[in-house]
Amino acid sequence: ISDQFVERKLTGKKVIVTAGGTKEAIDPVRFIGNRSSGKMGFSMAKIARDLGAEVTLITTVSADFNNMNIIKVETADEMMKQLKIFFPKSDVLIMAAAVADFKPMQVAEQKIKKNDDEDVFTIKLTKNPDILQTIASTKTNKQFVVGFAAETQNLLSNAEKKLAKKNADVILANNVAETGSGFNVDTNKITLLQKGQEPITWPLMSKNDIAKKFWEFYLQSN
Ligand code: CTP
Ligand code: CA
Repeated sequence: ISDQFVERKLTGKKVIVTAGGTKEAIDPVRFIGNRSSGKMGFSMAKIARDLGAEVTLITTVSADFNNMNIIKVETADEMMKQLKIFFPKSDVLIMAAAVADFKPMQVAEQKIKKNDDEDVFTIKLTKNPDILQTIASTKTNKQFVVGFAAETQNLLSNAEKKLAKKNADVILANNVAETGSGFNVDTNKITLLQKGQEPITWPLMSKNDIAKKFWEFYLQSN
């Protein structure tokens, strides 16, 4: 969206976007990660900025965008810490990050050595906090929280459960098993879910266009 032509409709709004997959350390040189590129979150952040919002982007993927506050994190715990600082003062949270559900129970202080007489190596994992659920549970009536749901099957029923459980105003569900949708591609097919409303499915489109669609939806419903 070019500056000149846009009525800056999000002026005065503080928007937080999380983006990218978290990296959960195993030892000083290794981590557990996922295939998230950060692109969906980046588009959400850039369009919000273009519409005049004051944007904070909390990201695991390096980003260099003008006119926004960019905070680089690696782990779910670091992301949570930043959200605890920024969320109370914000109007909208878009939780586009792919947060690891589990992290190694212990992080080795030194690089782990392979052992000549062991062919199997086991890492014990422990659950990460659910950031969306924790943060959204502190939400006031004036704050708007958006979660994503990445599914490979039973999209609607799984996403409905997340909407109910996580106290989000909206869940943007996508089938990450479908070609051209989800992780590490430029396009996405999204179904928007809200409490007590029929789901809305948008056609497959670029992540930028999805972000425009979303902010249009937000401006209409707020
Ligand atoms: N999420 C989060 N903290 C976690 C896990 C997920 O904040 N520890 C957020 C994601 O950023 C996303 C939403 O919750 O906005 C849904 O993530 P998803 O992985 O689809 O769902 P989960 O609740 O983790 O359930 P599952 O992976 O078992 O489907
Ligand atoms: Ca998950």
